[in-house]
Amino acid sequence: VIAIDGPSGAGKSTAARGLARELGFGYVDTGALYRSVAWLATRGGVDWSDGPALAALAGSRRFEFDPEGRLRIDGEPVDDRIRTPEISRGASVVARHPEVRRALLAIQRELGRQGGVVLEGRDIGTVVFPDAEVKFFLVASVRERARRRYAELRARGDEISFEQVEREQVERDRADRERAVSPLVQADDAEEIDCDGLDAGEVIELMKSRVAARFPLTWDTKNTK
Ligand code: DC
Repeated sequence: VIAIDGPSGAGKSTAARGLARELGFGYVDTGALYRSVAWLATRGGVDWSDGPALAALAGSRRFEFDPEGRLRIDGEPVDDRIRTPEISRGASVVARHPEVRRALLAIQRELGRQGGVVLEGRDIGTVVFPDAEVKFFLVASVRERARRRYAELRARGDEISFEQVEREQVERDRADRERAVSPLVQADDAEEIDCDGLDAGEVIELMKSRVAARFPLTWDTKNTK
């Protein structure tokens, strides 16, 4: 199990997906699960403040990631519907509820149970898989992270301003770090990677070299896709 944690916008998803592809591992984007709970709640008329109802909603669905790392709920792809600014806000609200975290904890452990998987989120190395064989904590400056998120949202046609993206980034960081249950903290045994000034390919290479150093006999580039 490879755990990748860090604040929003540090480049975790691209790096985690790329590393998984290089190693021939599965990829689990745990943020997509929290986003899905917020999205399902909006569709089903469940309030983001109702922890027990949200947990029941999460528990009643089947979550799986296809080989490309795309989330399906009950077999249906969710796509970019969970990537809007509204659902970003909702995800950070629903992620505060202990009931929701408990429901998603079981699902995440099940998804990683067989190993050969890269899981990416906020509390993978601390709570979900504290015994993960390899842990990374990706960081980047607020400005750099806001710049990436802004480019992403604009490319999708969102009319959001850079200032608003930056403001929301700071707010989301605060919510993630100050949350009472499973706040975003770096695991003692996680290696920190500062992604400022590194492109995704460089981050992936760095992580790959760390994995190879830890598992020199079991890891062979020729056997990967
Ligand atoms: O990584 P992301 O932006 O898709 O995450 C969406 C929200 O879910 C974010 O507010 C933090 C929360 N989250 C969490 O609390 N724990 C995780 N393991 C992953 C995401």
